[in-house]
Amino acid sequence: MDEVIKAEELFSFTLGESILEITYIIASVLFIVGLKKLSHPDTARRGNIWAATGMALAIVSTLVFHKQDGEHIHNIGWIVAAIATGTLIGTLIARRVQMTAMPQLVSFFNGMGGAAAALISLMEFPHISPDLIRAHGMFNGQVLVILLGLMIGSVSFSGSMIAYGKLDGKISDIRSGLLRIVNMALLVLLVAFIVYIMSLGAVEPASVMPLLYAFLAISLLYGISFVMPIGGADMPVVISLLNSFTGVAAAMGGFLYNNQVMLTGGILVGSAGTILTILMCKAMNRSLSNVILGAFGGSKADDSGEAGQIKEIGISDAAVLLNYSPKVLIIPGYGLAVAQAQMLTREVDHKLGQNGVEVHYAIHPVAGRMPGHMNVLLAEADIPYDKLLESEEANEQMQDVDLAVVIGANDVVNPAAEEDPSSPIAGMPILQAYKAKNIIVMKRGMGLGYAGIENKLFYNDKTRMLFGNAKESLQQVLNEIKNMD
Ligand code: TAP
Repeated sequence: MDEVIKAEELFSFTLGESILEITYIIASVLFIVGLKKLSHPDTARRGNIWAATGMALAIVSTLVFHKQDGEHIHNIGWIVAAIATGTLIGTLIARRVQMTAMPQLVSFFNGMGGAAAALISLMEFPHISPDLIRAHGMFNGQVLVILLGLMIGSVSFSGSMIAYGKLDGKISDIRSGLLRIVNMALLVLLVAFIVYIMSLGAVEPASVMPLLYAFLAISLLYGISFVMPIGGADMPVVISLLNSFTGVAAAMGGFLYNNQVMLTGGILVGSAGTILTILMCKAMNRSLSNVILGAFGGSKADDSGEAGQIKEIGISDAAVLLNYSPKVLIIPGYGLAVAQAQMLTREVDHKLGQNGVEVHYAIHPVAGRMPGHMNVLLAEADIPYDKLLESEEANEQMQDVDLAVVIGANDVVNPAAEEDPSSPIAGMPILQAYKAKNIIVMKRGMGLGYAGIENKLFYNDKTRMLFGNAKESLQQVLNEIKNMD
């Protein structure tokens, strides 16, 4: 009889474990498919749902089937309550957030991921396997994974909070040579902490906790001082880098718990973030080593000098120019997002198309305030993806463009990047709107872009400024074009 019970116990144990492993594999596949779908605007929404389903599956199956020392997870009530609270808060914030505040929100959520990974390390340190400590002292893989998770997660958390503040305009850059030295010193200190803790020999983990808290504090400080000097047009690089940090920190948790789905999820986020960082570095013409040392950001160029005369254009002249230019290239920027003018842009595009005008869009990789910002906006307005040109392709055609229409873009069309080596955006490949035959710039006034510098494009002989909120200007231009029929 006893043997029958044991066999049943054994069977139920292995069955539960097998189901857990299988659901982890399914969840991992859902993450990968979701990520693939996220890479195209047409499928991005579905991609999100696929990945979220994978995550839900992984959570539920862990709660039901995971066993430690032969026992199921305790405190299910608390865990479910925490998940429900998090879900409620997340849903409310995501529903209420203004489209223009989306980049800040993404930074905030990224920071929360980093904080969660750091907390895991903090909670697990006192529970490092005594067998491991007896055999190898503190010099073992578990300690290394915990320390790396704690450091990277905390840097990601505090760095993302600073990025949030900067994107929200609440925090401004502090650029000083001293901060760069502080950065280097903190980084060296963090490495020294890891080496020291790992060399401690066979000690009780609880006795190391004060050191661990100091390590946490320095990591948090490093996150702040790392992001603080970065500004101007360099934020996109740091945002994607922080993204990859969160992924790597989560992957450390996966190693720690030997949990495949956490590992896969972390690695996917980490590698996607790294690829994005490399792409952003390329888009900004910056080197990754500079990014990691936090030693970039450049100083603000002197923009006190008069750049020349600007020429304005009225609504009806702008409408005529648009309607009678055979080839029009729209260059959207952050102002398009602020004005929420994407739907009207599509309507103008549609009307021009009916009148025989060829309309394309030039998308700069760092236009807006988050990676893919313009793609998301234009996809929301159902603007066909094949109308979008990447920077290089757009620049190749620029000389043949009869009219470049810059809608709420500034830094991404600023020739200072090519002409002024002292500019904070020096070397950043721009959309060369200045090469088009005619240029209309739609913006509210002479406000600066994110990098905070003057833009000589606005004073170019071929440029006409159409001042006003982009949405209202586009509406009036559309009405005028319709009146021409
Ligand atoms: P910006 O250079 O930021 O310029 C946006 C322009 O839009 C402003 O000059 C503003 O001028 C105008 N504007 C604002 N509201 C408007 C409205 N309602 N209607 C019409 N115009 C309006 O934008 P960009 O060219 O897209 O460049 C993006 C910048 O942000 C780059 O420097 C980039 O590095 C940085 N950045 C990007 C990211 C990512 S990941 N994409 C993240 C952080 C920072 P007025 O005030 O005169 O209207």
